[in-house]
Amino acid sequence: MTPEARREVLGERLLDEVPADAVPADGGPDEGGPDEGRPVDPAAAPSEDREDAGLRPRTLAEFVGQGQLTEHLQIVIEAALKRSQPVDHLLFAGPPGLGKTSLAGIVAAEMGVGLRITAGPVLVRAGDLAALLTDLQDGDVLFIDEIHRLHRAVEEILYPAMEDFKLDILIGKGPTARSIRLDLPRFTLVGATTRTGLVAGPLRDRFGFVGRLDHYDVDELQAIVTRSAGILGVPVDAEGARRIAERSRGTPRIANRLLRRVRDYVEVRAEGSVDSAAAITGLELFGVDALGLDKVDRAILDVLCRRFGGRPVGLTTLAQCIGEEPDTIEDAYEPYLLQQGLVLRTARGRVAAPRAWTHLGLPPVEPTLL
Ligand SMILES: Nc1ncnc2c1ncn2[C@@H]1O[C@H](COP(=O)(O)OP(=O)(O)OP(=O)(O)O)[C@@H](O)[C@H]1O
Ligand SMILES: [Mg+2]
Repeated sequence: MTPEARREVLGERLLDEVPADAVPADGGPDEGGPDEGRPVDPAAAPSEDREDAGLRPRTLAEFVGQGQLTEHLQIVIEAALKRSQPVDHLLFAGPPGLGKTSLAGIVAAEMGVGLRITAGPVLVRAGDLAALLTDLQDGDVLFIDEIHRLHRAVEEILYPAMEDFKLDILIGKGPTARSIRLDLPRFTLVGATTRTGLVAGPLRDRFGFVGRLDHYDVDELQAIVTRSAGILGVPVDAEGARRIAERSRGTPRIANRLLRRVRDYVEVRAEGSVDSAAAITGLELFGVDALGLDKVDRAILDVLCRRFGGRPVGLTTLAQCIGEEPDTIEDAYEPYLLQQGLVLRTARGRVAAPRAWTHLGLPPVEPTLL
């Protein structure tokens, strides 16, 4: 069957009814999220992806950090090239802003094949995915972002597509319905997820390689800031890049965003070049402190230390004091505060750790009420 004929069948028959529960209701980074202007939000702000496009690493050599993962990828890609076969299906897992989408592009570029990009929540009907699959060229990379949010009906047609490069479609309804099987080009599926736990077992098992991305250390972030500054044409010295890196919460997307804010600052208020002092003043102007905390993070610490004097505080109470939703506190603010050892979670509520007191310039108080 020609691709045109395939599409015709699909267009007419496969665009089945949209199931009522098609759009996942679990929310997610693309549904508003916390404060859109938050300088240290690891998720991309609307329009930011476009601004960031020029900063994306295009080859493995340009990709900073994640040493073990990139070494494995290098081998997987070289082996596939040697055999003149597409790469095995790849799954990239890790927190937002660490480079999953960038890696998908790199795989396609290194293989010299086309890249098609979509996302789990966008594929509402089985036909949406079928249309994409039948449109691929041999060897192409199909990137599905937020793959843990795929609808079930879509996931089911993905299984035979990944395993046997076949597409099973049902034609007609009721007793006259029959199923036909179409051949698909051999493609590479690259999936990305921020929540590995939510990727269904059978789907996870069909990936030949699962790469986990970790937060970056300050040296790596400094290298990323220096590289981005070069592309943006902002003169930054090593110390200036270091100050930005230290405040980036281990996340390249935040590092690039803070660099852009510092660039704005030096263009308007300073001489146009970024040294240590300019980076610190610029970031403080935007509310980002030495640990990369913003004003809401600091307000949380302030409530725990000053207002409650170090006693445990329930999540709902804490949220009310800050004027945020409990979910937002838990998903957007708390992980970094916990990771940094500023806040502790106890059975009776959230407690400030000694480091939180010191960070606020107060004498540290040991949490005693665990
Ligand atoms: N290793 C890296 N080296 C250089 N720049 C990087 C690296 N990783 C990420 N970046 C930069 O950070 C930005 C965000 O990366 P990317 O969009 O790939 O993250 P992501 O993991 O897909 O995030 P999300 O989960 O939000 O989709 C990119 O535009 C890129 O400029
Ligand atoms: Mg992404």
